[in-house]
Amino acid sequence: MIKTPRNSVVYLNGSFIPQQDAKISILDRGFLFGDSIYEVIPVYQGVPFRLSQHLQRLHYSLDAIKLVTPFTDEAWTEIIHSLVAHNGHGSQSIYLQITRGAASTRDHAIPADIKPTVLLMSSPLSTPSLEHVEAPSALTAICVNDFRWGHCDIKSTSLLANVMLRQQAQEAGVDEAILIRNGQLTEGSASNVFIVKDQIVLTPPKSEYLLGGITRDLLIEIMAQHHIECRQESIPQQALVEADEIWVTSSAKELAPLTSLDGLAINQGLPGPLWKKVAELYISFKRQLCVPKLA
Ligand code: PDD
Repeated sequence: MIKTPRNSVVYLNGSFIPQQDAKISILDRGFLFGDSIYEVIPVYQGVPFRLSQHLQRLHYSLDAIKLVTPFTDEAWTEIIHSLVAHNGHGSQSIYLQITRGAASTRDHAIPADIKPTVLLMSSPLSTPSLEHVEAPSALTAICVNDFRWGHCDIKSTSLLANVMLRQQAQEAGVDEAILIRNGQLTEGSASNVFIVKDQIVLTPPKSEYLLGGITRDLLIEIMAQHHIECRQESIPQQALVEADEIWVTSSAKELAPLTSLDGLAINQGLPGPLWKKVAELYISFKRQLCVPKLA
């Protein structure tokens, strides 16, 4: 008998079941074509973080591929809370995927009467604390050519290009690939990117060439509240070389400092002072949301 590990209850098409019992059809269009949308939602001590923003982006992506959302926001919220409860109420990362569904044959054209497949899974999430700000897990990266398609703003599971780009980074012995399209920064292979130059924070504006990150948007909001100047403007590759600091953001990494890019140290190989300040503000924001649960 397989022993059910912690965080292994999943939601699949209406049922909460052990992960090892969850099965989908080989004709599922998510499997065959990557015809599918996803979200990754962090949950801190049982509280889903920025849930309405994640659901809003989910609708944006579903609308963009003309996939009719199977649930209302109230129903999504209920499913997410139930899954969190099934998996022990603690800090977790919720993965949510909706595929177009399984058709009777493999055909690129979308059949009219197809029912979406809905899958949610949970995995453990460790929560950075103020201690982490003192000893952060800094990341290294290389710049690579962004050869992805023209709809990177859709959070689609068609991630082969991102996988290949991340693999280039892995083979170079670094953590993340920083993507450059036509000489301009877009984002990371699974993150958004901010740079700091002369106390001003810069990040590329939203476009079809990058994913509008929920963490990115929140940081911009937090910096505005604390009068830290942040501009959304195009960033040429050369600006990365000259940056005082570079940060990457995502729901999984939160706000992580890069300490080297293309083998060159950033801020002498140490997380920068503005990163520390903004990371502390970010952690305080999370703490307010999860009080009194988040230590
Ligand atoms: N990815 N850009 C890309 C290409 C990403 O894959 C992600 C996150 C982000 C940051 O978005 P957010 O702040 O909303 O997490 C930007 C997730 C975590 C993933 O694919 O696992």
